[in-house]
Amino acid sequence: MANHGDWQFGIYLEGLTGGKPALPMDYATLEAAAADAMSTEVWSYVAGGAGDEHTQRANVTAFTRWGLMPRMLAGAAERDLSVELFGQRFATPLMLAPVGVIGICEPEGHGDLTTARASAATGVPMIASTLSQDPMEDVAAALGDTPGWFQLYPPNDRELTESLVRRAEAAGFTAIVITLDTLTLGWRPRDLAIASFPQLKGLCLANYTSDPVFRSRLSAPPEEDPQAAVGLWAMLFGNQSLSWDDLAWLRSLTSLPILLKGICSPDDARRAIDAGIDGIHCSTHGGRQANGGLPALDCLPEVVDAAGDAPVVFDSGVRGGADVVKALAMGARAVAVGRPYAYGLAVGGQAGIEHVLKCLLGETDLTMAINGYPTVGALTRDALRPVR
Ligand code: GLV
Repeated sequence: MANHGDWQFGIYLEGLTGGKPALPMDYATLEAAAADAMSTEVWSYVAGGAGDEHTQRANVTAFTRWGLMPRMLAGAAERDLSVELFGQRFATPLMLAPVGVIGICEPEGHGDLTTARASAATGVPMIASTLSQDPMEDVAAALGDTPGWFQLYPPNDRELTESLVRRAEAAGFTAIVITLDTLTLGWRPRDLAIASFPQLKGLCLANYTSDPVFRSRLSAPPEEDPQAAVGLWAMLFGNQSLSWDDLAWLRSLTSLPILLKGICSPDDARRAIDAGIDGIHCSTHGGRQANGGLPALDCLPEVVDAAGDAPVVFDSGVRGGADVVKALAMGARAVAVGRPYAYGLAVGGQAGIEHVLKCLLGETDLTMAINGYPTVGALTRDALRPVR
C-alpha cells in the first residue's frame, strides 16, 4: 500500500506543468482563509475559546516543548499507521472530533453530512456530535462503511438521554463518547461580545427536534413552535447534577463501548475504568470549556498510565502531523482534530475536509518515516525528549 506521504510527489509533479494546490497547505493559511469564509458569528464560535483563551494557546504550544528523537536505519520505508480500537482496526490513528456547529460551518447548513461523506471518502472515523444540523441517522448513513462514534451531551432528562443513546446504537454508531466537561457553557468572551449563541437561534438542534422523547415534552411540534423547542433545549442541555453515581446507569444504556470525554486527571481515568467504562477521551475541549491553563498534552501520559489497557483518544491543540506523532508517542491510541477540519469545510466543502486530512496524514506519515518509526507501535515515550 502506498504511504500517505507519497501524495506530496503528485503535488510536485503537477507543479511541473504549473499546477498548484487550490487549498492551503499549512494551518496558519487555512485558518486565515476560514476567517474570510465564515460568517462573523460562526468564526467567533469556532475560533474562540474560553476566557482569555490561554488554555487554547497552551494546548498548541505544549507540543513545542517535546521533540522526536530521530532514529536512523530503522527500516521505515513502508509505514503502517493502523491502530486497533475496541476490536476494530482503523487504517490510521486520526479521527474527526465532535464539533457541535460543524453543520453551519458550511453555508448550506449540512456540514454534518458533508463531514460524514469526507469521513467515508478518507476512512478517517467521525465522532458525530449531539449538536447537529441533520439527525444522527442521516449522518450515520452518510458514513458508509467507515466506523463512526456518537458523542453524547447527556441532557438533564434520563429518558431523553436513553433515547439518544438507543438511536445512536440503532443508527450504527460503534461507540458512545460521553462529554463530561460541558455540563454548562464555558465563559466565551468572543461570543459574548457579539451576543451570539447559535443553538439559541435554533441551529444544530436536529437530534433533539427529531427525537420522540424530546418532542413528547413539547405542547406543539418544533415545526410549529420552534421557540418553545429552543427553550426546552436550553433547559435540558447539560446535566449539571451528573455524578459518578450515574455512571452505572449510563453504562447500562448500551452494550457499545463507552468513552468518557474531558478526562484529564489520572484519578478520574482510573475511576472511570473501574466503573466499567471502555475508553478515555483526554481533552480540554480545545480550550473552549475548562480554561484552567493546563494543556491537554501535559495530562495525557498520566491518563494513559491510569487507563491501563483501555484506549485513550486525545484531542486539543493538534495542528499538524508532528503533533499527531507526539500524542501517539505519549500513548494516545487515536488522535482527533477539530478546528482544522472545521476550517477545511468552511474553505473547501467536502474537498476541503479531505484536503486537511490528507495534509495531516501525509505529514504524520513522513514524520514517522524520517524519524525512523515505521509503525504506531514503534512510537513510545522513548521517542520523545523535552526541548530545552
Ligand atoms: C460545543 O461543543 C462547543 O464547544 O461549543
